[in-house]
Amino acid sequence: MESKNLLEPMDLTVEELEELFDLAGEIMEAPEKYTAACKGKLMATLFYEPSTRTRFSFEAAMLRLGGQNIGFSEAGSSSVAKGESIADTARTVSCYADLIVMRHPKEGAPRVAANSARVPVINAGDGGHQHPTQTLTDLMTIRSLRGSLSHMTVGLCGDLKFGRTVHSLIKALSRYEGVSFVLISPEELRIPDYVRKEILDKKGLDYREVEQMDEILPELDVLYMTRVQKERFFNEEDYIRLKDRFILDEEKMALAGEKMMVLHPLPRVNEIAVEVDKDPRALYFEQARYGMYIRMALIMTMLQEKRRG
Ligand code: NCD
Repeated sequence: MESKNLLEPMDLTVEELEELFDLAGEIMEAPEKYTAACKGKLMATLFYEPSTRTRFSFEAAMLRLGGQNIGFSEAGSSSVAKGESIADTARTVSCYADLIVMRHPKEGAPRVAANSARVPVINAGDGGHQHPTQTLTDLMTIRSLRGSLSHMTVGLCGDLKFGRTVHSLIKALSRYEGVSFVLISPEELRIPDYVRKEILDKKGLDYREVEQMDEILPELDVLYMTRVQKERFFNEEDYIRLKDRFILDEEKMALAGEKMMVLHPLPRVNEIAVEVDKDPRALYFEQARYGMYIRMALIMTMLQEKRRG
């Protein structure tokens, strides 16, 4: 892996991604071979924003590799509450740990940490910006269950403005051949300009922005549902007005193709009715399972790179 940190999806080349998917696949097949792969290594999870899946999957991944974890899951219990800067926290923590995983409500915070840390930093979600390891999870799921990341139509639905998983997924998929995007959101939650202009337009990708899902459902190979991000709204009324705009239920699933994959980074609120869970096309819990294995592959690779470097 050339770049020492993983701050955004483009820090990994397509070849590096393939290596990670292969390694994650090998780990899934024979996890007992990897139980001491990171023995003696320590990972710090610095989570300044709530998380269940991302933090647990990172920590579970490290424990399953024989390594150990330190960290905090809310900034209030750390020196941040005393006013310590991100740069100082990162520098200090890198005296103790071999790898830092950081989630922060501010865009760019993991980059600030990486600039002063002496060990690799992984961005586990920065505000409404990027979430590269969720993208690894998404790509691993699609690639494993569909066989390829090329030539497909991907619908992304919900909060495309604040949804960092969406921004990272579009970025990563922009490098694969024949991928078309359908961006389904209310006007107020459309994809930010930097994604539209800097990625979709600049690379001449095929995309449409729509406000309804029914008509496009039959065309989709993947439907990526997202939660409306309550914590990023300034105004509660706007949130309430927009939160239930898209709800995927059995009726809508009946309009979709037999093989359409339904993904969601989770947590789900109302946007996927619980009745959909039993549909074989509902793959979001399976997706969470892939998330741990791809993180195992990532941790192993990043720690080895550090040793080599
Ligand atoms: C996502 C996130 O934190 O951005 N969740 C996750 O990492 N699994 C999506 C969300 O919170 O809605």
